[in-house]
Amino acid sequence: ASATPFAAEMPVPTVLRPTSRTRDTDFYDIRMFDTTAEVIPGLVTGVRTYNGSFPGPTIRAARGRQVVVRHHNGLAVDTSVHLHGGHVPAGHDGHPMDLLKPGATREYHYPNAQAAASLWYHDHAHGLEAENVYRGLHASYVVTDEHERGLKLPSGKYEVELQLRDARIEQDGTLTFTRAQSRPHLLVNGRERPHFRVAARKYRFRVYNVSVDRFMSLRLADGGEFVQIGSDGGFLAAPVGLTELRLSAGERADVVVDFSRYKPGTSVVLQNTSALATENPDVLRFDVGFPAYDDSRVPPVLLAAAALPPATVERRFVLEWNAAQARYTINGQVYDPARVDVQAKLGTTEIWTVVNADAPAPAPNFHLNHNFHTHQTQFRVLDRNGVPVRPAEAGQKDVVMVAPGDTVRLALTWKNFTGRYVVHCHQLPHSDYSQMLEIEITA
Ligand code: C2O
Repeated sequence: ASATPFAAEMPVPTVLRPTSRTRDTDFYDIRMFDTTAEVIPGLVTGVRTYNGSFPGPTIRAARGRQVVVRHHNGLAVDTSVHLHGGHVPAGHDGHPMDLLKPGATREYHYPNAQAAASLWYHDHAHGLEAENVYRGLHASYVVTDEHERGLKLPSGKYEVELQLRDARIEQDGTLTFTRAQSRPHLLVNGRERPHFRVAARKYRFRVYNVSVDRFMSLRLADGGEFVQIGSDGGFLAAPVGLTELRLSAGERADVVVDFSRYKPGTSVVLQNTSALATENPDVLRFDVGFPAYDDSRVPPVLLAAAALPPATVERRFVLEWNAAQARYTINGQVYDPARVDVQAKLGTTEIWTVVNADAPAPAPNFHLNHNFHTHQTQFRVLDRNGVPVRPAEAGQKDVVMVAPGDTVRLALTWKNFTGRYVVHCHQLPHSDYSQMLEIEITA
C-alpha cells in the first residue's frame, strides 16, 4: 500500500498523565494491548501498543523525581519493558529474561537521577524484542532538568519528538514483520510520510530512530543547516551545525531547526539519503507558515563535559555473523543468560574496543551493519578507526554505530547499581539472534 505523499498530518505523541503524585514520585499506569491505528490514511492496521497509542504515550520525567510505572501485559505474548538510556536498578531495567507474562502486572521504578535526555521505553523480551518493537511497543521518555530550562531552548509546542521507523504495510493494511529490504514505508510518529505545519521560527526536535535495524541519514532537501544540541544521553558540550544526521537503530539526536529562513507558504522535505534505490527517500514535509514570536535561543555553551576518570580495565568485543551457526555473535559466542560474560566492579572506569568483523556490505541496511548498546550506563565514544569522533558523537551516548570493518573505542564508568544487565547490538533482529552479552556488576 502507499498513500499520496504527505497527505496525513503528523501526530505529536500524547504526554501521559500521572495517575497520582506524591512529594517525590509520579505514578503512571500503562496497559499493553493489541488495537488498530490509521498508519496510512484510509487503512486499518493492527498494532501492539502501550495504552492503545502507536507509538506509545510519552512520559516526561523530572530529574530527581522518581517515576513508577505500573505495566499490565494485556497481550498474548511475553514482554519486558526496558527504559533505554535509563540509569536504573537491575530489577527495573527490563532485562530480556525478566519477563512480564500475559496477564501479569508489575511496577518499574525509575530514579531519574540523571541529566536531561531523550530516553525511550521499548520491549525487550528475549527473542521477541524485534517483533514487539516493530509492532508498536516503542515510546519516548524524556528527562528534563533545571539546567535545561535555563538554556531557553524552544519549548512547549515548539519542542517535538520525531519517532522515525520503517514498516511494511500491505494493501489491506496488515503490518508485516519482514526484513529491512522489504519495508518501504517510513513512519513519523506512527503515520506514513506525513506533513507537519510549523511556524517560521525555531523548533527543537528530539529525533529518535526507533527502527528495529535501519540506519538513516537525514537531511533537509534544500541542504539547509540545522543544529545538533544533544545525543542519546543528553546535551553536547556545544551546538554543532550539520547538514546531515546519521542515526542507527536506537540512537537519538536533539536538533534545532530555524524555519524563519523559509518564506511562509513554502515547504521543505526531510529526506533519508540512506534509503534503498527502490525506496522513496522522503520522510516528512515541513509546511512553513507565518512567523511566530520566538525568544528561544541556542546558547554557545550547552553543558561542559565531565572529565573522564582514568580507566583501569580494558575489554574487547568482536561483533560477527557466524554463517555456520546462522547466529550473530560477540567474541564468537551466542547469548546465554546463564553465563556471565563480563564481571565488572562498581566505581571502575573501563575502555571498550568494539570491532565489527563483518565485511563491508554492498547496500545500506544490510544485515552486517552493527551497532552497540550498553544498559546501566551511558558511555563516551573516544575514537573510530583511531580517529577521534566528531563533536556530535562525542557526548553522552548509549548506542554507537559500528559499521562493517570499523573499530570503535568507548569509555564508561559503572556507578550506583549492581546486578545483572546486558549489552548488545541494537539491530534488534541481531540481539534476538543472540548478539548480546550478560554483564554482572558487583560492589
Ligand atoms: Cu534499546 Cu537493550 O535496548
